[in-house]
Amino acid sequence: MDPEILKKIQKAGKVAAQVRREGAAKFVVGASALEVMDFCEKRILELGGQIAWAQMAINDIAAHFCPEENDNTILKESDLVKIDIGVHQDGWIADNAMTVEVGGTDKYKDIMKASQNALKAAIKLCRPGVKLWELGEAQMSEAEKFGFTTVTNLCGHSLEQYHTHGGISIPTFNSKNKTELQEGMQIAIEPFVTPGQGLIKEKGIPTIWMIRKDKGVRSPYAKKILEEAKKQNRLPFTNRWLTRKFGRGPTALGLRELQKQGIITGYPPLAEVTGSMVAQFEHSMIVRDKPLVYTKHEDDSW
Ligand code: CO
Repeated sequence: MDPEILKKIQKAGKVAAQVRREGAAKFVVGASALEVMDFCEKRILELGGQIAWAQMAINDIAAHFCPEENDNTILKESDLVKIDIGVHQDGWIADNAMTVEVGGTDKYKDIMKASQNALKAAIKLCRPGVKLWELGEAQMSEAEKFGFTTVTNLCGHSLEQYHTHGGISIPTFNSKNKTELQEGMQIAIEPFVTPGQGLIKEKGIPTIWMIRKDKGVRSPYAKKILEEAKKQNRLPFTNRWLTRKFGRGPTALGLRELQKQGIITGYPPLAEVTGSMVAQFEHSMIVRDKPLVYTKHEDDSW
C-alpha cells in the first residue's frame, strides 16, 4: 500500500477512535442527541480530520439516525445507544462504532459483550485467503453463545476512497460466500447483535443521504443543495447541515426534487423488526497476516 495513503488512513483512524470515545462518554442521562452529534462533528475537525459522518441510533434502531436541527431526543436511563463515527482524510475512511448503556445500568451487558466477542472473533480470522463466510460464521457463533443472533441483513463492508461501501460485503452469518480476503484490502467489520429476530427494516424518514448520480437540475433549491452535497463527494450528508444553511423549507423542497430525479438516495433509520434491542461494535482494518486495526483506541478491549 502507498505509504502516503496508509498515513492518511491511520490519521483518520486515530481521530475516529478518539471522537467515538469522547462522544460515547457524553451519552449520559439527560444528554441531548443533537448536542452530542454536533460535538462529535466539531471534534473531528478540531483533531484535524474531515467529517465522513457522525451518526447514532437508540435501542431497537440499529443505525442511521442523525438528529435534525430541531430534534429534541433526550437520553434516558438504560437507553442502549450506538455511536457510529466516520472520519476521512482526502477520502480515505475510518469507520468505527460502539454501544453504551446510558446511566450505568447493566441490563444489556450480554448483548454488548456478544457483539464485542463477535467482532474480536472476526478480527482474529482476518487475513489474506480467509473466506467471507468464515468471517460471518465466526460472528454468528459468538452471538449464539449468548442465545442471541446477529442482524443478518446488515453487514460489514470494504472501504474505498470516498466510498463507504466498496465492492465487498462482510456477512455476519454463514452466507456461503467463498470470496477470499486479499492482502491490503481495507474493510470494516460490524456485528449488530440482538435478542430479537435478527432482521432490520427501514422505519421513519431519512435524514441521511448520498448522491447516487450527478446530473443537472433546474430548480434553484435543488441546485444549491446538490452543490452543497457535492462537497462530501460520495460520502453521506445530513439534513441539519443543509437546514442550518438554507432553512428548512428550501431544504425540504430541494431534497424532494433531487430524490424524485434519482440524484440522491435517502437512508432511513433501521429498526429491528421485533422491536428488540440492538448492540453494535465496529472497527476498520487493513487485511494483512495480522490485520492492522486502525480504529482501535487504547481503552478498547475488543
Ligand atoms: Co460501517
